[in-house]
Amino acid sequence: MNADLVIVGSGLTGLTIAERAADELGLKVAIIDRRSHIGGNAYSENEEQTGIEVHRYGAHLFHTSNERVWEYVNRFTEFTNYVHRVYTRHNEIVYPMPINLGTINQFFNAAYTPAEAKALIQEQAGELAGTNPQNLNDKGISLIGRPLYEAFIKHYTAKQWQTDPSELPASIISRLPVRYTYDNRYFNDTHEGLPVNGYTAWLENMVANPNIEVHLNTDFFEEGHEFSKSKVVGQVPVVYTGPIDRYFDYAEGDLSWRTIDLEEEVLPIEDFQGTSVMNYADEKYPFTRIHEFRHFHPERDYTKDATVIHREYSRFAERGDEPYYPINTAVDREKILKYRELAKGEPEMIFAGRLGTYKYFDMHMAIGQALSIFDNKIKPHFSGEEKLV
Ligand code: FAD
Ligand code: NA
Repeated sequence: MNADLVIVGSGLTGLTIAERAADELGLKVAIIDRRSHIGGNAYSENEEQTGIEVHRYGAHLFHTSNERVWEYVNRFTEFTNYVHRVYTRHNEIVYPMPINLGTINQFFNAAYTPAEAKALIQEQAGELAGTNPQNLNDKGISLIGRPLYEAFIKHYTAKQWQTDPSELPASIISRLPVRYTYDNRYFNDTHEGLPVNGYTAWLENMVANPNIEVHLNTDFFEEGHEFSKSKVVGQVPVVYTGPIDRYFDYAEGDLSWRTIDLEEEVLPIEDFQGTSVMNYADEKYPFTRIHEFRHFHPERDYTKDATVIHREYSRFAERGDEPYYPINTAVDREKILKYRELAKGEPEMIFAGRLGTYKYFDMHMAIGQALSIFDNKIKPHFSGEEKLV
């Protein structure tokens, strides 16, 4: 093995650490990934028939208020001026999301001022005043009142968790944002956009340094190659961005995750829904939302003969499914503490990223964490100042 540093996982976490180590420290870096492509869940490719860029693991919108991350990502790609907006369909009427003054006035067929709308929602939320909601259903009602909760949140949430909200812990939601203006911009960050030439071009630019070697279709836990766990741990510093419970052979039990299933369809029409994301708030539709990828890049000259959509279904992940969103129950929190203790005992090993730390990270957070790991651990270690763990 001819590497100073081995990185397991080529998602944005692994790519960022690899890029910094190769570029700033001149290290030889080997990245392995069990998938057949780099980029982790941010990977995209052009759908064959239409040439429309499709995000293979669910729609990815880049946004950040972190100036360091923004400067860093702009070294590898330019961003379009795309601004994300989401709509939702309830009783065959389309409303703007997140819930805002436009949603409220359309729903109540009214022309409330911000103060009037606020007073109304407060009154409706008062239904459960003085109680301490124990389940998500009561919590939702206590936050925004029964009418809006039942229309826009209840069934959507039931579909996300495949569980009736009265059976879900109240702790899953701490707040349900309601905006008393007509602003329906989805993100509040300073910077937002999509990579001009697509995600894959961005991700590939991050591994352009000849000191970085990428080994695809290579699973850390399989023997028979030079980068297996048994060959590298303790021999060379390793950054591991796979699931932390898997690393320890589930010794403290499985952590729980939600996953999504995407059903792709190419339709012989120019435009299916007029926007990139439409939520489906009602029970009668089994999916949570539909993405239409052409709308992420209105600046591109896509075909007018066809469009690509994904219907998104959400469920608890089983072993073998792609783990996407940490569920983070009280039991999970106990397990992750035990895994972190185990992690401290591993020689020259860093657990990072979404799967390695069991935290939901947006892309900018994954990149931010990776830059910090580089500054605080990798760089001091290779300049001989400090041991890695
Ligand atoms: P990942 O991207 O998951 O990469 C981990 C990599 O490790 C994978 O490529 C995996 O194959 C590899 N790996 C795991 N185990 C092994 C093993 N044993 N051997 C070898 N390789 C292994 N962020 C946003 O900012 N905006 C969004 O709109 C957004 N939407 C998202 C939608 C979904 C459905 C999901 C799941 C995430 C979304 N994210 C979004 C988050 C974004 O994908 C993450 O921030 C980013 O992927 C984090 O990267 P990571 O490197 O930590 O993990
Ligand atoms: Na998303």
